[in-house]
Amino acid sequence: MARHYLKIDHVAKSFSRGGATSEVLTDIDLAIERGEFISIIGHSGCGKSTLLNLVAGLTRVTTGAILLEDREVNSPGPDRAIVFQNHSLLPWLTVYGNVRLAVDKVFAGVKSRAERHQWTMHNLDLVQMAHAKDKQPAEISGGMKQRVGIARALAMEPKVLLLDEPFGALDALTRAHLQDSVMRIHAALGNTAIMITHDVDEAVLLSDRIVMMTNGPSARIGEVLDVPLERPRERVELAADPAYIRARETVLKFLYERHRVVEAA
Ligand SMILES: Nc1ncnc2c1ncn2[C@@H]1O[C@H](COP(=O)(O)OP(=O)(O)OP(=O)(O)O)[C@@H](O)[C@H]1O
Ligand SMILES: [Mg+2]
Repeated sequence: MARHYLKIDHVAKSFSRGGATSEVLTDIDLAIERGEFISIIGHSGCGKSTLLNLVAGLTRVTTGAILLEDREVNSPGPDRAIVFQNHSLLPWLTVYGNVRLAVDKVFAGVKSRAERHQWTMHNLDLVQMAHAKDKQPAEISGGMKQRVGIARALAMEPKVLLLDEPFGALDALTRAHLQDSVMRIHAALGNTAIMITHDVDEAVLLSDRIVMMTNGPSARIGEVLDVPLERPRERVELAADPAYIRARETVLKFLYERHRVVEAA
């Protein structure tokens, strides 16, 4: 039995180039339980994507370790699916083809052809994209592409869903719709999720906890805020909820008073 589902254990990360070393992350220590929805918020360049890439296994820690169910993470795997800020669909495949490719990779020996087809369609249904299954990425909107990216990640049934500013490039209305879908899917499937965002309201609305990072270099976790709001959450009702307003204020204060970006002279 794992002590923690996902443990980021005193992780530091530096990059070296030509004899110069820059430390991006210092002493990142965080335990995440199964089913938790965690947001990471911090100023641009502090190392959020670097941290997510470490959990994804796309880069290696310099010191410390990342453990998923007590097993060390040191390479990418289908147990950790990532959704990037700018969708990464293969342009020559259809919407269906993009999701089906991931399903075939993960479930080739496990599910039959018919089951893989059904599973692909099921995940397109979850993000309400089944109607556009035969379209190419170039024929659908940014929000739709992002939904396909989410379907592709969900279809892999990852233990941990990693979201790097998944709604960053979208207009406010599309963003709100997608946030609602992610909340619905999280409630239905109970995924463990780590999401990077720059949006304070988004962080409060979606998260069980918000991890606030200090500015780099050598960024660390400055504070972790519990979001004590019951689920399901309704954005309109929450706007007037004192606990929502308090959580929002705490994050805003952290970002804009205590750790504001110092403008270069
Ligand atoms: N492969 C790499 N080699 C060298 N330096 C890197 C590499 N990847 C990231 N960095 C540096 O690490 C720092 C953090 O970058 P990162 O992309 O993690 O920031 P971020 O918090 O995600 O920023 P943003 O909010 O703008 O996406 C930056 O200074 C960046 O230049
Ligand atoms: Mg980033």
